[in-house]
Amino acid sequence: MEATTFVLFGATGDLAKRKIYPALYNLFVDQKLPQSFSVIGLGRRELSDETFQANVEQSLRMFSRREANDPAILKNFLQAFRYSVLDVGRKEDYQKLLQLIEQREEELRLSPNRMFYLSVGPEFFETIAANIQESGLGSANGWKRLVIEKPFGHDLQSARDLNQKLSKAFAEHEIFRIDHYLGKPMVQKLEVLQQSNPVLQALWTNRYIANVQITANETVGVEERAGYYDHVGAVRDMFQNHMLQLLMMLAIHLPNNSTSENVRLNKKMVMESLEPLQKEDVISHIVRGQYGAGTIQGKPVVGYTSEPSIAETSRNDTFIAAKLRIDDYFWRGVPFYIRTGKRMNEKSTRIVIEFKEPFKQSSWANDDSKMPNLLVFEISPNEGITLQLNTRDPQHRGEFKPIQIDFHASGDDVPEAYENLIHDALHGDPTFFAHWDEVELSWKWVQPILEAFEENLVPLHLYAAGTYGPAESDALLAKDGYHWWFDA
Ligand code: BG6
Repeated sequence: MEATTFVLFGATGDLAKRKIYPALYNLFVDQKLPQSFSVIGLGRRELSDETFQANVEQSLRMFSRREANDPAILKNFLQAFRYSVLDVGRKEDYQKLLQLIEQREEELRLSPNRMFYLSVGPEFFETIAANIQESGLGSANGWKRLVIEKPFGHDLQSARDLNQKLSKAFAEHEIFRIDHYLGKPMVQKLEVLQQSNPVLQALWTNRYIANVQITANETVGVEERAGYYDHVGAVRDMFQNHMLQLLMMLAIHLPNNSTSENVRLNKKMVMESLEPLQKEDVISHIVRGQYGAGTIQGKPVVGYTSEPSIAETSRNDTFIAAKLRIDDYFWRGVPFYIRTGKRMNEKSTRIVIEFKEPFKQSSWANDDSKMPNLLVFEISPNEGITLQLNTRDPQHRGEFKPIQIDFHASGDDVPEAYENLIHDALHGDPTFFAHWDEVELSWKWVQPILEAFEENLVPLHLYAAGTYGPAESDALLAKDGYHWWFDA
């Protein structure tokens, strides 16, 4: 891998501590970082290099997947880290940064390849990108890349504006938009599973699949993020990005030996084939919910509007369920149901594929012991794949017994999403990053929902914390003769 300087804006922030430093460390231990690399951390606070390195070390001890207890490895890792004060709007700070980067490139004999990771609020993206360009930080004789995280815009228009501003400083192939769901190992496996298993390839159509259910439930509430969350809600926080990315990854059909361009092209095609929602149809396709008081794992919790810093009158959505249709050759007629919510019964992200029941007309039609075949991808917290089949029940002759064929990955050695993503960005592999086309099409699809919510055209259903969301979410599937699988 080419020598690289990793320039981290927001180096004293929470994401850096919890995710980015541990990811870099694990990559380092696995020898997946470039032989020579330099990390420059940036923040508003004054910090010496030593204190910065000590803070990084502490974050590894707290959050790293691998224990950070070998002094020699730690020392080698931490010596790559330097710190510089930077106020995002102060031009002199970018000049100082440029000098530091060049000095380190010289000391370590690094080619001037620079990856700028913006672990800061989106309100700073534009200023930083413009200053990178103006200061000459991005005009060295190597490659440059920009890594940013969601939220990418607040609606369709603001996303377009932001993209236009960023693209003055970075070309599309230089922008790596992180959607951490795309870094999850099971999500990355979806593509390979389909491509390398003719048996799955053959089944991946409306001929055999009755419906697809994508769930991302969380037990946490708004936590300390009221200022952010109350303005975005589940629809912007989870649905527009993570959930639609899961839908794309599941629904794509890829040719053999597909390249990253192919993956992106096919994801775009899925988004283009999504039947658009009109504002007046939002009410029949989308369920909006907000958690009330309840009990999570035996502990009483308050409702959303009683959370600190949330107004009693807030109508923000903490839950959304949706029915979508992909109008293409493969998926026409197959409903895709998506739901995500906070303060739900369990933490669980999974995709369930329910197969059609060809025996419906046969003599077994009324046999309740028979279940449809299900293929389940468990994405988190555990990773696994289950195929549910019907067999005969030896105890009760004549009855069916569903059996599960299971694969479960052992937790320890699975790299975390951020490891996968930082590794790919360093390699310049864009496969598991959100291309602008996908982001734009997602906002476009979601826009009528945002407007319908804003104009209160859709009821806000309260659900008790610790449940599976409002009853209307069950009704959304019941109308089509289905139900959410695996709700207790
Ligand atoms: C983030 C959202 O993008 O994803 C959070 O902002 C949410 O609100 C989180 O809790 C969920 O991620 P994961 O990996 O825990 O499913």
